[in-house]
Amino acid sequence: MNAIATEHSMVIRSATEKDLDKVLEIDRLSFPTPWTHHCFKVVLKDIFLVIEQKEITGYIIACLCDLGLRAEILRIAVHPDHRNKGIAIELLEAILLIFSKENVESVELEVNSANRSAVKLYEKFGFKIERIATFIADDDEFYIFYVMKLTLREPQKVKYQVPKKHYHVGDYYDLQIAA
Ligand SMILES: CC(C)(COP(=O)(O)OP(=O)(O)OC[C@H]1O[C@@H](n2cnc3c(N)ncnc32)[C@H](O)[C@@H]1OP(=O)(O)O)[C@@H](O)C(=O)NCCC(=O)NCCS
Repeated sequence: MNAIATEHSMVIRSATEKDLDKVLEIDRLSFPTPWTHHCFKVVLKDIFLVIEQKEITGYIIACLCDLGLRAEILRIAVHPDHRNKGIAIELLEAILLIFSKENVESVELEVNSANRSAVKLYEKFGFKIERIATFIADDDEFYIFYVMKLTLREPQKVKYQVPKKHYHVGDYYDLQIAA
């Protein structure tokens, strides 16, 4: 599958190792505890980028779990200079479309309850708070996370599910760099 062109002259494509420096830059600007280069390399096949005028302006990391029945969104971030113009919406729409085509039943994610913009973003897509998780960081700071879930289709009653061979979204959707 080639790159997905969105309505707003953005292109969404898979990440390659060459993109990681820019992804790390956006990550450092977006999270108090950024991921390392190694973390991003491990999930490389699950990283999708949004490109605007040849510039990487945001990314989403999403993977398939439980024989492809469930999916998880691990991280999403948009460069601070490009926020509030619908980039996160485009990224989520693209990834949810892929999950629907793959017959995924539900999508889950964890979000810091204090991150109002992210919670609002996920609610916009119909994600609901499934449960609350607490976390004490190394600095003894206490954090509350929402585990949010979006049901894409009702679970089917199957006795046996043939395991899918691969689990990376990128194994099914090998998005290529737009020419
Ligand atoms: C959360 C984030 C990804 C949103 O990206 P964005 O491209 O600016 O978001 P969009 O412009 O697509 O906005 C989508 C929706 O998100 C919500 N939203 C985004 N920014 C918001 C803000 N500052 N305040 C309140 N709601 C906000 C709104 O519901 C918005 O829809 P609306 O404009 O119709 O109300 C971005 O702020 C970011 O990178 N934050 C740092 C990283 C992060 O917190 N990631 C999520 C946790 S994993």
